[in-house]
Amino acid sequence: MGKVNKNIMKLGAIAMFVGTLAACSDTGGTKVAGWKSFSGDPVIEAKVDSVLSLMTLEEKIGQMNQYSANFAPTGEVADNQSGEYLKRGMIGSTFNAFGAANVRMLQEQNLKYSRLKIPMLFAADVIHGLETTFPIPLAEACSWDLNLMERTARAAADEATASGVAWNFAPMIDMSTDPRWGRVMEGAGEDVYLASLVARARVKGFQGISDYSDLNKNNTLIATAKHFVGYGAAQAGRDYHTVDISERSLNETYFPPFQAAIDEGVGSFMTAFNDLNGIPCTGNKHLYTDILRNAWGFNGLVVTDYTAILELIAHGYAEDLKHGAQLSLDAGIDMDMISEAFVTHLQELVEEGSISENQVDVAVARILEMKFLLGLFDDPFRYCDVEREKEVVMNDEYIQLAHEAAQGSIVLLKNENNVLPLKKEDKKRVALIGPFVNERKSLNGEWAIKGDRSKSVTLKEGLDAKYADSNVKFSYAKGTDLPLIDRQTEKVSTGNVPDRSGFAKAVNVARNSDVIVVAMGENYHWSGEAASRTDITLPGNQRDLLKELKKTGKPIVLVVFNGRPLDLSWEAENVDAIVEAWYPGLMAGHAVADVLSGDYNPSAKLVMTFPRNVGQVPIHYNVKNTGRPFNDDTPADYRSNYIDVANSPLYPFGHGLSYTTFDYSNLKLDNKAFSKGGAIKATIDITNTGNYDGEEIVQLYIQDITASVTRPVKELKGFEKIALKKGESTTVEFTIDEKAIEFLGVDMQPIAEVGDFNLWIATSSDDESNHTRFTYN
Ligand code: NOJ
Repeated sequence: MGKVNKNIMKLGAIAMFVGTLAACSDTGGTKVAGWKSFSGDPVIEAKVDSVLSLMTLEEKIGQMNQYSANFAPTGEVADNQSGEYLKRGMIGSTFNAFGAANVRMLQEQNLKYSRLKIPMLFAADVIHGLETTFPIPLAEACSWDLNLMERTARAAADEATASGVAWNFAPMIDMSTDPRWGRVMEGAGEDVYLASLVARARVKGFQGISDYSDLNKNNTLIATAKHFVGYGAAQAGRDYHTVDISERSLNETYFPPFQAAIDEGVGSFMTAFNDLNGIPCTGNKHLYTDILRNAWGFNGLVVTDYTAILELIAHGYAEDLKHGAQLSLDAGIDMDMISEAFVTHLQELVEEGSISENQVDVAVARILEMKFLLGLFDDPFRYCDVEREKEVVMNDEYIQLAHEAAQGSIVLLKNENNVLPLKKEDKKRVALIGPFVNERKSLNGEWAIKGDRSKSVTLKEGLDAKYADSNVKFSYAKGTDLPLIDRQTEKVSTGNVPDRSGFAKAVNVARNSDVIVVAMGENYHWSGEAASRTDITLPGNQRDLLKELKKTGKPIVLVVFNGRPLDLSWEAENVDAIVEAWYPGLMAGHAVADVLSGDYNPSAKLVMTFPRNVGQVPIHYNVKNTGRPFNDDTPADYRSNYIDVANSPLYPFGHGLSYTTFDYSNLKLDNKAFSKGGAIKATIDITNTGNYDGEEIVQLYIQDITASVTRPVKELKGFEKIALKKGESTTVEFTIDEKAIEFLGVDMQPIAEVGDFNLWIATSSDDESNHTRFTYN
């Protein structure tokens, strides 16, 4: 790279000098050897080249350094390490700074100190909304409504960009089949086909259409596919724990959502904390260079997870921070979140020849390109418009969307004798019991980054509003408390054990009612990062309270607020209805009241299996048959099953009830067979046979019966969410082509093998009532 031109320091606006230099440079490809641009746009490449050619090595390294905004966001630069780097113009990106005015102030300071006036890139974890909090991602995925997920991501991006943020550390697309792992709340469940579609919908919502030029709008931001890879397979569900995944599982299950995100044009990737098959991801060259960059052609920006380079030492992979810096740069990582490894050691590593300056240039080129694509060089303050912020954040349309998303995420797990809905016109005394009736703080769930927890609508408020002028009368008793974790004082986080002193009043209230509505769950800190559990039943003595309430003989409706599949085995046997509300976000109470009253007919279905107990974990619907499958025709001994519990889950993937009923009939194939290049169509008639208008998620499952690599007992290959008025019928059609029967062969390449296949069109993964077979020949 060329030497620094000192005269450039006299240039004022960065846009001006970049424009000038870009015009001067040839457009015949970039000068940075080994750098392939994300956009492929020669004009952008020339601009990146121009800026790079003016930078000192120290300045380049500064671009690769990311901090959390712990330096005074409302005053002069703080007198601490990060403040010092800022004063030297050596922070390329900051996260956790919010608000148009704050970000403007930080950007002004950065430009004051950055010799070349390179704008800083502001990032944040906008996981399920900025201030307008949508349901947690796992809940929202239960809507199976890709358009809804795209719209909430779009709204989140609009609010975030109005508040200064141009880079989002979302979506989290880690696959997991382990509800002990607290971060399942951030994902899209256990199925790779559905999760890949959800990944695309969310990336599209954050970034705009599948075209990098959309990033140039002031209301789109860069999305991050995280955490690459295998983070959700932490041993025993303990966060950050060791991960060992076969090459086949990586390719079949863990990679596809990331590949889908790339197909959708995702701009950045984040590393995973975990050790994958013996090599920590953040220093894994095979993963980041051979696979991500070379095999998949990803040319965007890769950032480490928080202090992940530093953690290479504890992993036993790097001798010290300097070694860690070398390992991660060699792996293909561009930006260091928090570790200060790059900013402290890269210069020395270049000078001693352990890494090349070209490696630094490639990383910096990727970072600068994103800043150009976002338009930050044209206007570093384009995300800092206070007026826009006031208009956009928590506007009525987004609050309404939060309501819609919350309704669409609630899963009705059980509804015996149609105890629900509790109609407004019915003359009923309802006992309202449990720690979640008036709970407000937990309703947003974890990662509600700027969601004001004091604004979420409680269940009680929602019900009071819903039933204000009705015949339904409520009496309330809390009964018990949610246990909390004090991580500072308790080594083992069992939670404090709440006492039973509230039980008697609760039972009394219950006795004087016609129906009991119980609102229970987990405190929001019990899921999310570093919130793994070994016991996934309702925490504390909530079940004990339920047992006392059960003795009253009154029908019980249990509403659960939680961030993971729970073991609700006792509850499923002993209560009459279960409403899985998850953490519904800002409009929680209204959405649950809509469902309880029947004003909204529940339409969501599980995207993660609910086990009968934690011993069944990991559990998922798309298992292999084994050589000794559980089958009633075989002798009971020596089968692949448990002695103490059934193989089947409590509630399977794809399960979710409605207040109406749907009849599936007349499953037909237009052809019994197809061959290469061809396809067949499967159709089924669906009728709403109940008393409510409703929505149904119709699911297509396929099994390759015999193959050169054993296949699961069934795999989701399509779905359609339909709306039917009562009495109405429709025909749902699926096309089955090679893509639908393809799998990774012995050589890990996609293959469609000749043979016979089972096909089901079903209301849930355990519904086998509509089955047929076809042949691929
Ligand atoms: C650690 C988390 O693992 C990651 O998902 C997040 O983006 C960073 N912290 C930054 O908050």
